[in-house]
Amino acid sequence: MRLISKAVFPVAGLGSRFLPATKASPKEMMPIVDKPLIQYAVEEAVEAGLTDMVFVTGRHKRAIEDHFDKAYEIETELASRGKEELLDLVRGIIPKHVNCIYIRQPEQLGLGHAVLCAQPIVKNEPFAVILADDLIDAHAPVMRQMVDVFEQERCSVLGVQEVPREQTASYGIVATSPFRDRIEEVKAIVEKPRPADAPSNLAVIGRYVLTPAIFEHLTRIRPGAGGEIQLTDGIAALLAHERVLAHRFEGVRYDCGSKLGYLQATVAYGIRHGEVGSAFAEYLRRVTGR
Ligand code: UTP
Repeated sequence: MRLISKAVFPVAGLGSRFLPATKASPKEMMPIVDKPLIQYAVEEAVEAGLTDMVFVTGRHKRAIEDHFDKAYEIETELASRGKEELLDLVRGIIPKHVNCIYIRQPEQLGLGHAVLCAQPIVKNEPFAVILADDLIDAHAPVMRQMVDVFEQERCSVLGVQEVPREQTASYGIVATSPFRDRIEEVKAIVEKPRPADAPSNLAVIGRYVLTPAIFEHLTRIRPGAGGEIQLTDGIAALLAHERVLAHRFEGVRYDCGSKLGYLQATVAYGIRHGEVGSAFAEYLRRVTGR
């Protein structure tokens, strides 16, 4: 059995970069080809052996709840029309052994605050955090790679990747020292530093395994960058008491919270889609003149 069973999905953000698409529905429900981002994220957690999916929701709670709930109407309709394949697709969205739990973030006070909202469910256990808008295309699901590291090292693990230095102000950036292959010890972490002030170009991407001690620190910290309770600041406080590792994961990451990243993911997943992949690739060749 895994030492970690709970995955927290903060899905209460404003999604302002995607307005008006995110006016009445969370950005995590935006599809890459035919599957919403949040489903890719849940599949990654399930592949990592996690069984309790904790969604921290905001004002658009219903769309996500409905997506993972039983859909009697659609199922009855598909069954009566004999559409077995589609029926299996709808029924198989969440495996039977997996639980979905919803908790509300009453105000959008930041990612750190959203994670803190999950405390009554996570309690005193280590847990995973997955940001669904960071879609990672990987041979071995990234959360599985990170849970493996946690099980060996028994400390918090952050998913990290190098970014161009001019982009450091969009990320939490870590300073590290070498530990072992692909894993480094975090020495410091800062939220959104300007390129000139950044301690490195190693950015935290939306995957975390955290010890429950993080909650105590999140309760204490004051609003940081952008006036929000930052998860990065909670991790900085945690660092003073516990070892934290950075895992340079293997996989291609798409920032689906940005328009460009979203379109890149759509192309990458579209051209290898079982049903439309080759026609879509052919179309792209035609429109790009290649
Ligand atoms: P982002 O920084 O991407 O913010 O949040 P956002 O509001 O979702 O999107 P933009 O920047 O306005 O376009 C990172 C993650 O943290 C969650 C978001 O849902 C996203 O998964 N989040 C952020 C919360 O759940 N609550 C918050 O108060 C803030």
